[in-house]
Amino acid sequence: MIRLSAVSKTYPDGTEVLKSLDIEVNEGEFFVLIGPSGCGKTTTVKLINRLIEPTEGEILLKGREIHTYNIHELRWNIGYVLQRIALFPHMNVAENIAVVPEMKKWDKPRIRKRVDELLEMVGMDPAAFRDRMPSELSGGQQQRVGVARALAADPDLILMDEPFSALDPISRERLQQDIQNLQREIRKTVVFVTHDMDEAMALGDRVCLMKEGRVVQVDIPQNLILHPADDFVRTFIGDRRSPWLTAVDVMADADSPRIVEERDPKKRKGPLFLRDERGTFLGRLENETLDPDGPVLSNDTKLRDAVRVFRENRTDWLPVLRGDKLIGVLSHRHIVEYLERTAHTGEVKG
Ligand SMILES: Nc1ncnc2c1ncn2[C@@H]1O[C@H](COP(=O)(O)OP(=O)(O)OP(=O)(O)O)[C@@H](O)[C@H]1O
Ligand SMILES: [Mg+2]
Repeated sequence: MIRLSAVSKTYPDGTEVLKSLDIEVNEGEFFVLIGPSGCGKTTTVKLINRLIEPTEGEILLKGREIHTYNIHELRWNIGYVLQRIALFPHMNVAENIAVVPEMKKWDKPRIRKRVDELLEMVGMDPAAFRDRMPSELSGGQQQRVGVARALAADPDLILMDEPFSALDPISRERLQQDIQNLQREIRKTVVFVTHDMDEAMALGDRVCLMKEGRVVQVDIPQNLILHPADDFVRTFIGDRRSPWLTAVDVMADADSPRIVEERDPKKRKGPLFLRDERGTFLGRLENETLDPDGPVLSNDTKLRDAVRVFRENRTDWLPVLRGDKLIGVLSHRHIVEYLERTAHTGEVKG
């Protein structure tokens, strides 16, 4: 969807802000840019919608160099949400949201329908808010209108530069949840800037950690934790292994002797987990009865949630499923051993 190749940006005063940046964002991806203040996140986002020009390098959008687009066409097809939304103060909510559709010359009924739909989407009752002025909205509501405005003309790409940083923790969490649901529904490509690691972990399909104008590591959130590229990543991320680890990281995999494919295996102590030859989970075998409906973990169950499932079900063994496939088993003991293994060395995995 977007590809930055060897992009550098040096300001006229000689400040070298980006140093040969390579970033690739896939179609439909929620891509998070994170890094310390001044590392070049905002600069990167502004390069993408051509608010600033690179000194060197190439930026492709859908395979086309961004300069080959008409600048208006480019901007209209990119939704942009800034840290502090600047709504037009003399326009009401509906007019603010309709700015790009108006420029695209959509007809009135279509615009009106779209405005109401977007207000619903960001959790604001259209009847109550459509005609309000920005000064009659709370900060969180203004931010929501800003998100609606960025989505208004159905852009292919949404750039969000610390959109929630001015909000209180509760509004922030709600908006995070909303934007995540929204992105899952509409599958837009989103580039999201933050300097909050929890926000990055919660939202990102992939997270790109930057430092001093360079990319340090790009990966799925879990891998930044499990396999940090260097000490900078480790420090930046802090110790968040335990809450973010999933059942998969610790389980015994599909070769575990607890996993069987026959209904009447040799007697073994404790439960066994039965699957068919295609790997589909059939149930838990214990005391010669098969229970197909017992508790299971899924591959993305967080370890701390897994611990709760163990406790609530008073069991020492749980199957781990990806979809309907049995991919491993997890025991209470695995978790304890894992924590013992990693607690002292700071090493993760094995
Ligand atoms: N017009 C300019 N001229 C010179 N230097 C600039 C200019 N604009 C930005 N910079 C510098 O570029 C660097 C990167 O700025 P940028 O705004 O991209 O950082 P950021 O990662 O978004 O930081 P923050 O988290 O604080 O928003 C900073 O050191 C900043 O001072
Ligand atoms: Mg910034």
